[in-house]
Amino acid sequence: MRNPMIELSDIHLSLVGGSGEVNILRGVDLRVDAGETLAIVGPSGSGKTTTLMIMAGLERPTSGAVRVAGNDLGGMNEDALARFRRTHMGIVFQSFHLVPTMTALENTALPLEFAHIPHARARAAEALAAVGLADRAHHYPAQLSGGEQQRTALARAFAADPKVILADEPTGNLDTETGERIIDHLFAMQRQHGTTLVLITHDRGLAARCHRQVRMADGRIAGAAQPGLTGQAEQAEQANKNEQAGHSGHDEQQAAQTTGQPKGTRP
Ligand SMILES: Nc1ncnc2c1ncn2[C@@H]1O[C@H](COP(=O)(O)OP(=O)(O)O)[C@@H](O)[C@H]1O
Ligand SMILES: [Mg+2]
Repeated sequence: MRNPMIELSDIHLSLVGGSGEVNILRGVDLRVDAGETLAIVGPSGSGKTTTLMIMAGLERPTSGAVRVAGNDLGGMNEDALARFRRTHMGIVFQSFHLVPTMTALENTALPLEFAHIPHARARAAEALAAVGLADRAHHYPAQLSGGEQQRTALARAFAADPKVILADEPTGNLDTETGERIIDHLFAMQRQHGTTLVLITHDRGLAARCHRQVRMADGRIAGAAQPGLTGQAEQAEQANKNEQAGHSGHDEQQAAQTTGQPKGTRP
């Protein structure tokens, strides 16, 4: 059996706004195993980013438990959470979140320095080289293309060799070709380090590269997403699952009626 790396148990998040209480997450249960890659898909506003922020301890749930690498995030204060993130997680945001007054190298080294990891600069330089940016190390974000900024963000996320990478639409702001190259880097590093990867994407092709996909809808996990299946195929698959689980499906009832056998008895 594999070890769980991330466990969300019955996560609810409600925020009180101008027009009353808003239920943003309504009972999210999700487990991601060590070394697994998981895509979260689903419509805009369904709670994907919020779920990721809860995994990162950047948002606290109203109720429910969050465990990462066996640690209960709910029991940690803000300082402990910040330390935990530095040593266990890399986060890649859709809009890069680089510090504009720091070079690519300084941006990449920053979390390593915060975590008091020795040889931060040298490690950051290695991480930049791994994403093909050795010759851009001393450029500021404004001097880098969108793709180069996102590769810097990836280098920063991987520099401390975290157990977990959380990526929120990492290619959302990039053209298709640049996005694909960045994703190739992401999966290459994930395989090399055995990192647990959770990524949010609207790109079916990208989602299909993950071991597993879940779809969110309306603040919940709506089910396992199967790319390329039509509604009909999904229904057929559900019927098949029902049958395997021993439920009486519609067809089975009909068969029972025509054979005169009582429902629920199997030969
Ligand atoms: N800080 C907040 N205050 C109020 N509503 C929020 C806040 N953050 C997110 N929401 C709402 O929660 C819902 C889920 O948002 P989000 O997790 O960003 O969805 P997704 O990433 O799937 O598009 C949306 O309806 C959004 O407007
Ligand atoms: Mg989002």
